[in-house]
Amino acid sequence: MSAFRFPPGFLFGAATSAYQVEGAWNEDGKGESIWDRLVHQHPDVINDQSSGDVACNSYHLYQEDIKILKDVGFHFYRFSLSWPRILPTGHANVVNEAGIHYYNNLINGLIANGIQPVVTMFHWDLPQPLQDLGGWTNPLLANYFEDYARVLFTNFGDRVKWWYTFNEPKSIALGYGMPLGFAPNIPTHGHGEYLVMHTVLLSHARAYRLYEREFKETQKGKMSIVALCNWIEPKTYSEEEEAAAERARQMHNGWILHPIYSTAGDYPPVMKEWVAKKSREKGYLRSRLPSFTKEEVEMVRGAWDFLAVNHYTTFFTYQGKEGVSIVPDCDVCMTQDDNYPVAASFWLQVVPWGLRKALNWIAKEYDSPPIMVAENGFSDHGGLNDTARIDFFINYLRELLKAIHDDHCHVIGYTVWSLMDNFEWISGYTDNFGLYHVDFNDPNRKRTAKKSARVFSEIIRSNEIPAEFLVNKSSL
Ligand code: BGC
Repeated sequence: MSAFRFPPGFLFGAATSAYQVEGAWNEDGKGESIWDRLVHQHPDVINDQSSGDVACNSYHLYQEDIKILKDVGFHFYRFSLSWPRILPTGHANVVNEAGIHYYNNLINGLIANGIQPVVTMFHWDLPQPLQDLGGWTNPLLANYFEDYARVLFTNFGDRVKWWYTFNEPKSIALGYGMPLGFAPNIPTHGHGEYLVMHTVLLSHARAYRLYEREFKETQKGKMSIVALCNWIEPKTYSEEEEAAAERARQMHNGWILHPIYSTAGDYPPVMKEWVAKKSREKGYLRSRLPSFTKEEVEMVRGAWDFLAVNHYTTFFTYQGKEGVSIVPDCDVCMTQDDNYPVAASFWLQVVPWGLRKALNWIAKEYDSPPIMVAENGFSDHGGLNDTARIDFFINYLRELLKAIHDDHCHVIGYTVWSLMDNFEWISGYTDNFGLYHVDFNDPNRKRTAKKSARVFSEIIRSNEIPAEFLVNKSSL
């Protein structure tokens, strides 16, 4: 097979998330989320003081979204459900029928157009009333998440065959880590992150086991968590620096993946050792990393049908005291390498080979599971002639193909972040990731294809990277 061809049946899709595109933040019975609360009370934490109140207005314009997905030719659409739109208080005793109706319309519209719905249950917009109970630091949220999952399987599971429980648990933990402004913006660095991740992992497993027990046989869907898996490369090569980088990989990526996907289960041994050691050094009487009971290790281990990763960039590391890293207690500092270009988002350095390395690391660590790239994308400051984005995609896809053909990684699909420009969290509308431009000054939020959308049409249609994109970039 040509080095530039994708395997038969390879799936291409595009992604968004509820808070970033839906708008209609308080319409038709929707409850308040932690992002609603944050942007309304602290607009100062958002770069351009904007909000997702209207965003792309997909709540009203979802048919436009379906149309542009179809225009490109995507096989699937990855979108998320807003928990407070479905359960306004977070609890399953009150279901907002308008929310169910909205998602039914979206799902049915996609299917009618030959596009598979790939559904994320939680993409960061926690119902505020659950935050008032402690948010993800409260282990009881696992009960509420299971109840929410039951509502979703019951209402949508007949048509949804691809489920993601959580998008990027590490980013959820960010809202409790260093004061970066992510909701709920409760900086409890060194404690909060560990508690949050613990509850999220247990919640994931509870939803997975519920599905397995009561729904899977009839609904026949597949489920995964979505882990952010950027690559981590030592800045200089020595045995010590390589060991430190590997520790960082385990503590950043293995933190989420090891409990679910390793044969042993539980947190990575090096992480348990390191957090315990650092906790002792600081005079704590116990490790700040919570422990799973034996039963919990078993419940979490193996709670997967495939492995979904978001990948954007590579960090270059050196040993050093914590502070620069969002994962506490690792003693590895993350930097960038000036040799690589940076997107509009300061953290997004373009390092295509990092994707290949990350895929290989996952295959080796977790015995070659089927991998779905659930997000990959590039930000700029606007413009329809987005050649830098096109270069990004072509170069990352080439590395993905090397991972498939040369390294035999089992990659089943690829998801573009994002279908269209949207509310980019604390960057507001300043960093644009879309294949489609959205006019945020137009009440109709007109969507217009960028050049990159056309390139994707061609890639999907031919199931390969066409030669013209490889040799003659200026012709794009
Ligand atoms: C998130 C998206 C976000 C994107 C770009 C991912 O980490 O899942 O919600 O917009 O990165 O920052």
